[in-house]
Amino acid sequence: MATTNNDVQKINGNFKGKDIISLDQFSTKDIDIVLNVTAEMKDIAANAKPSQLLQGNIVTLIFYEPSSRTFGSFAAAVKQLGGQTIEIQDPQHFSSVAKGETLEDTMRVFEAYSDAIVIRHPQTGTAAKAAAATQFVPILNAGDGIGEHPTQALLDLATINEKHHRLDNLTGVMAGDLLNGRTIHSLIRGLSLYKGTTLYLLSPKELKLTKEDLDNFSKRGVKLIEIESENDMPENADFWYWTRVQKERFANLEDYEKVKNRFIVTPELMKKKAGKNTILMHPLPRIGEILPEVDSDPRAVYLRSEVRNGMYVRMALLALILGKK
Ligand code: NCD
Repeated sequence: MATTNNDVQKINGNFKGKDIISLDQFSTKDIDIVLNVTAEMKDIAANAKPSQLLQGNIVTLIFYEPSSRTFGSFAAAVKQLGGQTIEIQDPQHFSSVAKGETLEDTMRVFEAYSDAIVIRHPQTGTAAKAAAATQFVPILNAGDGIGEHPTQALLDLATINEKHHRLDNLTGVMAGDLLNGRTIHSLIRGLSLYKGTTLYLLSPKELKLTKEDLDNFSKRGVKLIEIESENDMPENADFWYWTRVQKERFANLEDYEKVKNRFIVTPELMKKKAGKNTILMHPLPRIGEILPEVDSDPRAVYLRSEVRNGMYVRMALLALILGKK
């Protein structure tokens, strides 16, 4: 949906017709709205009778990068609410993009066919570009390069809130590829809206946040503590947010090999540093950075509530921006 300037539009309590590009659009009140509608959606999904909330709505899912959970959960979310999807994975091969069509033209075509467009793209800023190119339908950013992944951050916040019943005064550990991880970039923005947030940032020095991001986020009041060893992790944090080293963002594979799997969650690390109420999160996919032996630990929520919350949160967002809630 084209806006009058390049800044992302604040939600300001009203989701109808808005693009979802960045967590910077949200206030804590807006997040509360999403969490409340998410709780309703959980009940709808549990109900055998399908909801008709999005009946007559078509949502385009166009993913220029591989995806399992985000694509699948958006598709499931639309269908749970009685809507329909146009699903295009790999448009570089299976659409006119292969013939050289511009992003702007592709977006204008799908806004003619659908009521919202969910886009994932390898280049940072593309979701905002898609929003600027369209006039009539909202754009949802499902991950733009190393930029942001706002719907993931909202489901991560829902998962933390489900366990701790609050989003303020939290201490967390965020580990892995902080430089290239878009889920990290959105989640820090979200958590920085709340009072008393302390985040330990565990990464190899090559994969730290950029100085610019570190300064910008710190200015918002979140306490960021960079560490390079598991020994410096706090005991009994409220959550651990582990991430994959983003291989596809490296120009040189040797550089990737040097830093991949530097930090691995093992049952021993859980025993040493996690508390009984610490939850272990991961946006997935994991590529060895959490050992499978950890999966059966009840504190490991990545293949449990975190995945399910993805569908509920996306149901809530679609209902809100399509003006059904
Ligand atoms: C993440 C992504 O695509 O940024 N995956 C996801 O959507 N859950 C994380 C990743 O790929 O590492």
